[in-house]
Amino acid sequence: MQRVEAELERLINEIDYDEVTRLFKMLSGGKRLRAKLILKIAKDVKEAPLLAAIVELIHAASLLHDDVIDEADTRRGVASVNATDGSKTAVMLGDILYSKAFTELVNFDKEVAQTIAVSVTALSKGEMMDVKMAETFNTDEATYLDMLYLKTATLIEAAAKAAALLAGKDAEAHALYGRNLGLSFQIIDDILDITADEATLGKPAMNDFVEGKCTLPYIYLYEALRADEKERLVQAHAKKIDAQESAWIKAKMDEHQTVVKSFALAQKLSNEAQAAMREDAELVGILETMIQRSY
Ligand code: FPP
Ligand code: MG
Repeated sequence: MQRVEAELERLINEIDYDEVTRLFKMLSGGKRLRAKLILKIAKDVKEAPLLAAIVELIHAASLLHDDVIDEADTRRGVASVNATDGSKTAVMLGDILYSKAFTELVNFDKEVAQTIAVSVTALSKGEMMDVKMAETFNTDEATYLDMLYLKTATLIEAAAKAAALLAGKDAEAHALYGRNLGLSFQIIDDILDITADEATLGKPAMNDFVEGKCTLPYIYLYEALRADEKERLVQAHAKKIDAQESAWIKAKMDEHQTVVKSFALAQKLSNEAQAAMREDAELVGILETMIQRSY
């Protein structure tokens, strides 16, 4: 990973603008999941650290823009750039990181470059769908999973596939692994928003629903409720929620096992990914750690 950080520093220095260097240093690197995946899959490939840095730049750019769109004050536990330096700066920094990433990407093998580029269009489409869907009470599981795939899984899928292409490994098996890892990761995140406490989350519990996001446990709940209860759930959507309403929702989720049902889907996706990666203990390990985050 030190080589990835060194590549990132080199690319940022090449931009040759001290304001960009200063702002980039303020960003918290986060888990660097995508970079770690690329290094694990393409261990001995010379260009792997550069590809990993490119993907992390794209990811960082997308989060800068997402925080402007979501009007978020914090990112990865530190103040967001839009909070400290304003939305205009956050958008422009995102543009610079994103275009620098693509400047480097064009030097890669065409299939590798295409894999990453196509996923960024998908990611941007997913973000737009997410914003649009939060305007209404979506109860359709397939629509929700489509959005989730585009917004969170495509870049992870592309990172795994591109790394496999670089390393001469099975690209489709690695793509499936990345896709399912991304999807189950996000489903677990959605579950934790309901089951974890405020101290663990760093934000109020059930924040997704307050923001209008109807995640899987809510979609399954809506399906299971009686007509008058459905109405009550819809009334609570996209508003500040009081203790009585949140307790009612949680009790109904328990009664209808909707968190358990959501977890079962995450587990199924994870099992499929494990089956595709049977021979790679490290990649299986990443999945196991992810799915074991308690709920
Ligand atoms: C976080 O979602 C957002 C994403 C994973 C993708 C955002 C994508 C874009 C803004 C489009 C791509 C733009 C560029 C420049 C490449 P979230 O808001 O659900 O999660 P959060 O809690 O981490 O904010
Ligand atoms: Mg956001």
